[in-house]
Amino acid sequence: MRVLVTGGAGYIGSHLVDRLVKLGHEVTVLDDLSTGNSANLAESRSHIRFVEDTILDDRLVDKLVRRADTVFHLAAGVGVGNIVAKPLDALITNTRGAENVIEACVKHEKRLLLASTSEIYGKTGKMPMSEDDDRVLGSTTIARWGYSTAKAIDEHLALAYAQHGLRMSVVRYFNSYGPRLDPKGYGSVVANMMRQALADEPLTVHGDGTQTRCFTYVEDTVEGTLRAGLDAKAEGVVFNVGNDRETTINDLAALIIEMTGSRSAIRRMSYEERYGKGFEDTKRRVPDVRRAADVLGFRASIELRDGLERTLQWWRNTYR
Ligand SMILES: NC(=O)c1ccc[n+]([C@@H]2O[C@H](COP(=O)([O-])OP(=O)(O)OC[C@H]3O[C@@H](n4cnc5c(N)ncnc54)[C@H](O)[C@@H]3O)[C@@H](O)[C@H]2O)c1
Repeated sequence: MRVLVTGGAGYIGSHLVDRLVKLGHEVTVLDDLSTGNSANLAESRSHIRFVEDTILDDRLVDKLVRRADTVFHLAAGVGVGNIVAKPLDALITNTRGAENVIEACVKHEKRLLLASTSEIYGKTGKMPMSEDDDRVLGSTTIARWGYSTAKAIDEHLALAYAQHGLRMSVVRYFNSYGPRLDPKGYGSVVANMMRQALADEPLTVHGDGTQTRCFTYVEDTVEGTLRAGLDAKAEGVVFNVGNDRETTINDLAALIIEMTGSRSAIRRMSYEERYGKGFEDTKRRVPDVRRAADVLGFRASIELRDGLERTLQWWRNTYR
């Protein structure tokens, strides 16, 4: 198949591209390298077509979608730090850019996989989070909720077009981590802590560190994405893609210190100090994984220690 991957030079996107190439697909990547990195495509570079440009160019998007059989849309303004620092850029990319991709898929009758996020659920207290649950968001004056809102608009738009024949599915990722997470990038907690631990710098823990996340190794993230994007049974369906094992940020920090043999201490930082006044975090985020298991036969299977070991290995090879 001819596959278009937007955001394919990014962290998850590039792993997806590698898998698609290995499966024998003909891959085109559209990425403006705003947070992505062409080095992420080193493994597949000679097998793909790379277009360094933006999804905000509707004519270009139209042309690339027309030539593809199926589209994986991962390009987005991402990361809480980026969203809070530059809310307008992220909003425009995540609404107007996504609309360009979705509408081109409608026009040319192409299959679409839309990458969405666990941020969709906002600060709901209901765990685990099931795909049809209510969303609980803060005020529009708090920038972080713009990301959740924009991704929700994308989901609504794709689901509405599905009623007019668009073949689509949505995946909501839960804290993916693994090789190629950029420590200078948008600040995944795993990437930051790994960098700090290897440099024997204090590991930054925001708040009291009792907040939890369900860390999902990128190989699992990609497997769920592929199945949702290629399986006909997935059409019209929204899936959580993540591990349902919860880890506190304090435990993550302790594990990374142990695994790296680091002399680092923990440095606590208030949310206000990191993200400014009025920032709201989500205390827990646990996916209900039953739908992905039932429909796609997918379950994240890589243990945190194993995934961190692989990430660490990559890290040592890359930043030696
Ligand atoms: N990493 C996670 O845990 C996580 C969690 C939830 C959702 N997601 C979603 O997964 C997708 C991939 O994210 P990621 O974690 O790999 O981050 P990433 O920043 O590595 O990937 C995003 C890619 O999109 C590209 N991009 C941004 N704006 C663009 C534009 N206007 N035109 C073309 N390309 C553009 C970036 O250069 C980058 O390569 C995103 O849609 C994101 O919202 C990721």
